[in-house]
Amino acid sequence: MIIGFLQFCPLRNNVQENITQIHTLLRQHSFEIIVLPELSNSGYLYDQPEDVKSYSEPGDGSGPFLSALIDICVQKDCLIISGFSEIKQNNLYNSAAAVTKDGILALYRKTHLFDREKTLFSPGDTGFITFEYKMTKIGIMICFDWIFPESARSLALGGAQIIAHPANLVMHYCQNAMITRSLENSVFTITANRYGKETLGESVLSFTGQSQIVGHRGKILASARKRGNAIKLVDIDPKDALNKKISSNNDLFADRRSDIYLLK
Ligand code: ACM
Repeated sequence: MIIGFLQFCPLRNNVQENITQIHTLLRQHSFEIIVLPELSNSGYLYDQPEDVKSYSEPGDGSGPFLSALIDICVQKDCLIISGFSEIKQNNLYNSAAAVTKDGILALYRKTHLFDREKTLFSPGDTGFITFEYKMTKIGIMICFDWIFPESARSLALGGAQIIAHPANLVMHYCQNAMITRSLENSVFTITANRYGKETLGESVLSFTGQSQIVGHRGKILASARKRGNAIKLVDIDPKDALNKKISSNNDLFADRRSDIYLLK
């Protein structure tokens, strides 16, 4: 299965330009699954909910951004997982949609909001969902979800073989941490990060790029530079992620001692 990421620099206040960028960057490529960054429609840094609202859209595929992704899927017969700013009944969510030529296959709303996102978005209410594409189970988490190992663990326990991870990372720890997330769960992870800078008043954010794909044994299979557009694709067998044995006497799931872990 050919899987990959697109790293690019979404522009703020310009959904149409972001659609054009995605179209142009994907045009030459063939793949089965591609992951795009967090908030690829809207960009990241907004002062208040009202400001991001007009660049947000419903999660049902009726808005300009997701319908453009559906069009790409029609042309390429693929799955695209992209972050986007979602509006539902006056609530905004930092969401990711899994899109195919048939429409929206799954919708995830970010569970762990980062910093000022808490002033813009409602906390996600979907939980860590998994869904099937081409006989492969896939799960989604968004950016800061990485710092809570429960996110990837919940997806893996839910059967995910591939974790799609749209991101707008600003701290430099995540790319290393995702090696561990892959290894401890024996899953493939695709972190699609953005690059570039956003400024709003006194706030300046630099996004860290270095998108990456990690294999089920913690090997980096592909990675991008800190800056610049990049599309990287690798050919994997998702069935490898069904093997949770890490030694002849250790199984990552069967050996868990949930009887003694503190959950609260
Ligand atoms: C983040 O969660 N966008 C840092």
